[in-house]
Amino acid sequence: MGSKKTDSMDTIWPISPHTAAKHDLLRNYLGAWFAIFGQSSNHDKVNFVDGFAGPGVYAAGEEGSPIVALRALLEHSAVDKFAGTQFNFLFNEHDPQRLDALKAMVERLRYELGEFPPNVNLRFENRNFHDLGQDILGSMKETEVLAPTFFFVDPFGYKDVPLELMQKLLAYRACEMLIYFDFNSVNRFATAGNVDEHFEALFGTHAFTEAPASGPARHEYLRDLYEQQLRDVGRFTYVRSFAMVRGTGHVGYYLFFCTRDLQAFDKMKAQMWKLDPSGSYRFEDRLADVLVLFEAGGSTEPLKEWLLERFAGQTVPIQVVIDTVIAETPYYSGQVKTKTLAPMNRAGVIGGANQKTVGQFPAGTSVVFP
Ligand SMILES: C[S@@+](CC[C@H](N)C(=O)[O-])C[C@H]1O[C@@H](n2cnc3c(N)ncnc32)[C@H](O)[C@@H]1O
Repeated sequence: MGSKKTDSMDTIWPISPHTAAKHDLLRNYLGAWFAIFGQSSNHDKVNFVDGFAGPGVYAAGEEGSPIVALRALLEHSAVDKFAGTQFNFLFNEHDPQRLDALKAMVERLRYELGEFPPNVNLRFENRNFHDLGQDILGSMKETEVLAPTFFFVDPFGYKDVPLELMQKLLAYRACEMLIYFDFNSVNRFATAGNVDEHFEALFGTHAFTEAPASGPARHEYLRDLYEQQLRDVGRFTYVRSFAMVRGTGHVGYYLFFCTRDLQAFDKMKAQMWKLDPSGSYRFEDRLADVLVLFEAGGSTEPLKEWLLERFAGQTVPIQVVIDTVIAETPYYSGQVKTKTLAPMNRAGVIGGANQKTVGQFPAGTSVVFP
């Protein structure tokens, strides 16, 4: 049939709760991302690349990531303000039947919403992601400054996403990426020896073979190694992993988010905290070995403890406190003042410098940590 399918799934398959979780995050984050970059006078275009786009639809009609991304823009409450920016969507899917299904889904969306605005440009590719990546690199001029580009990298499994390629593709400052990390396969096979070549490409190092044999130490080693490689080889300033945990309590996979923009990093975490976990999945992170569960209205107790240790004995300008929380913890800026510092300040656990009112930390104030 000419299909390049390398998996055993049908062209369109049933959605799983963990895919829905990915889509919730993508939808929410892209809404914020389009608002940051779509109105910026510094950029006349932005790019969204879905490298493993899928068929655009699941068995019961649920929409796939390309449609989620398009809707995030086309139904954005501020879309009228984005008219001065070109939005380039690149959807790549190597299975021809899935690509056809995706194109049909995009046409359905066009029928539903009407003709897309002229600044929304679509490109479909039917390539192996690796080849597509090489071509993108080959076609770029050495001095070209790539527009803000969001890569959604969502393969089945752990093949086809070699770190070396990702590093080259994402070398431009304004590139960021949300990537699926197939932790369970990595955990199962990393020291088995039979797929070393794929893992070597995935991690960009042989160090995965040194993972402890079992238990939490093995889990942490493999997760942290990938994170470290994204920082060191990928040269991303900010990297965070979010564990998607099944209802059974087992880690289903990790999503790694990588960026060089503190504001974007803050927005991604804000969206993570706004997700409404269902009974079948939740996202988790950790802070100094303390588990942090992402849920609306979630606790900031671990952050309080962390701040006391991180800044012990120092007087720190409020903006530095906020930026450090964004850069180094699972929390986002909106959780710092009212939810965390104010109750600590009122309880006398921390002090304030230049403050008019106890519990309030406007610009110009500092936090006095014991
Ligand atoms: C996990 S699914 C993508 C789901 C989609 N991103 C979504 O969220 O709705 C992975 C897709 O990547 C395609 N694929 C697998 N290997 C690929 C490769 N090397 N290059 C491009 N596409 C690939 C598969 O055919 C499949 O449709």
